[in-house]
Amino acid sequence: MTTYMTPSEDTMALRTNAIKLHGQEGFAGMRKAGQVAAGILDALIPHVVPGVTTGELDDLVREMTLAAGGIPATLGYRGYKHSCCISLNNVICHGIPGDRVLKDGDILNIDVTPLVDGWHGDTSRMFLVGDVPIKARRLVDVTYECLMLGIEQARPGKHLGDIGHAIQTHAERHRYGVVRDFCGHGLGRVFHDTPEVVHVGRPGTGPELKPGMIFTIEPMINGGKPGVRLLDDGWTAVTRDRSLSAQFEHSIGITETGCEIFTLSLAGHHHPPY
Ligand code: MF3
Ligand code: CO
Ligand code: CO
Repeated sequence: MTTYMTPSEDTMALRTNAIKLHGQEGFAGMRKAGQVAAGILDALIPHVVPGVTTGELDDLVREMTLAAGGIPATLGYRGYKHSCCISLNNVICHGIPGDRVLKDGDILNIDVTPLVDGWHGDTSRMFLVGDVPIKARRLVDVTYECLMLGIEQARPGKHLGDIGHAIQTHAERHRYGVVRDFCGHGLGRVFHDTPEVVHVGRPGTGPELKPGMIFTIEPMINGGKPGVRLLDDGWTAVTRDRSLSAQFEHSIGITETGCEIFTLSLAGHHHPPY
């Protein structure tokens, strides 16, 4: 059974079993945090070039987050020591920034989550390095389409299963695999809150969407099969079959008539080429 709670019942900023229905304060907080997050990805664009290391990009994310008055929510999160996740090629998600040098033909996801005035703005985009083969570019394009088709379903009266169904249908039409092991999530003052937003599903199933719900949609789409393998570092998730993987993520809030995307790029840098 799905239960919901109002802002007045949400006094402690804890993860709860009930789905939080946020009010004006939450939407204002998410708008600000979301814009910081989107602005960081916009500002990274000229830096994502051959020769740069993922660790250098992580340093930039930390500096830009602090300069905007925020804190990277991933720093110290469950022992994670970095300011963002950078997932290259066959890495699905939670790639750890480090000494890896970007080279021509790489595709990568950069996922940032600034905590601003107590609210989490969580967003990620794909980046292309130099000349990327058409096969990889097509995976990136279809993954972006999956995210936006999911968002099109986000309005009162629809269910989470409608979002998953839209994403799964589009990905599988292209013979891609939708990752099951990681999901979108409620967020707000809590980084990872209920509900889980699964990127596969059947229409009309799962919790009903209600005004005030705030959550991410962040489909991870594999060029091959959906299977995941976790590396020994305990974080890096890679495709089992070594196929390429792509992901885009937005933080959204359900309104009376549809949804608001908090992490939209005001500069229009929605997907590559930027
Ligand atoms: N930003 C990721 C998400 O979309 C979470 C990263 S948690 C970390 O939910 F610890 F891996 F950084
Ligand atoms: Co997220
Ligand atoms: Co994220």
